Amino acid sequence: MKIAIDGPAGSGKSTVAKMLAERLGFTYVDTGAMYRAVAWKLKQHDIDPDNTDALRELLENTQFSISDSVLCMDGRKIGDEIRTPEISRLSSDVAKIAEVRHFLTAEQRRIAEKGNVIMEGRDIGTVVIPDADLKFFITASPEERARRRYEQLKRLGIEANYDRILNELIQRDRNDSSREIAPLKPAKDAIIIDTTNMTIDEVLDLLVRKVRDKGT
Ligand code: DC
Repeated sequence: MKIAIDGPAGSGKSTVAKMLAERLGFTYVDTGAMYRAVAWKLKQHDIDPDNTDALRELLENTQFSISDSVLCMDGRKIGDEIRTPEISRLSSDVAKIAEVRHFLTAEQRRIAEKGNVIMEGRDIGTVVIPDADLKFFITASPEERARRRYEQLKRLGIEANYDRILNELIQRDRNDSSREIAPLKPAKDAIIIDTTNMTIDEVLDLLVRKVRDKGT
């Protein structure tokens, strides 16, 4: 069984996707982490994403795999180094580049082929696995998503500014939704879930019910 989960940043989709994968014993694939990892690698090698030849060469020498449920790039586990605000911005720009999208889409399809997978991102139900057995589009209001991010940072002891978070989130939504290739949008056959007034447990229960209805 293949399950696609798409939606904007801060919608709670990563949290529920991970919980659902655990509940079902499926492989969880965070495709946003793959865009972030490519952005991180470009920065490490000091390569300008506009330098197409250098970008192509870098992609030819990049491999993704999953080991012990952890996503790896070039045989090394991807960690928190890809979660900085700088890499967030860079990954949103990198995600507009056709070469990067073609490369990562092929990698994601290869991983999804193995089955029993929950793949999470922006274009999974529309582009990567349009034949998914179930497609969810998880969203929430920008204000609620910014609030969640603000609370999360505060809990981690990181100083945060709500207005700045909200502005950056709106900017990134715009970037992801308006790009020409594979923009963020629900697939026609996606189940849309607005989590603005829902708890994580309520969202998870709903997803589990939908999976059961499908007969797993
Ligand atoms: O989900 P995230 O914030 O970690 O994703 C990082 C960036 O990658 C984000 O700007 C959107 C982009 N992305 C994408 O274009 N397609 C995907 N399938 C996943 C992420």
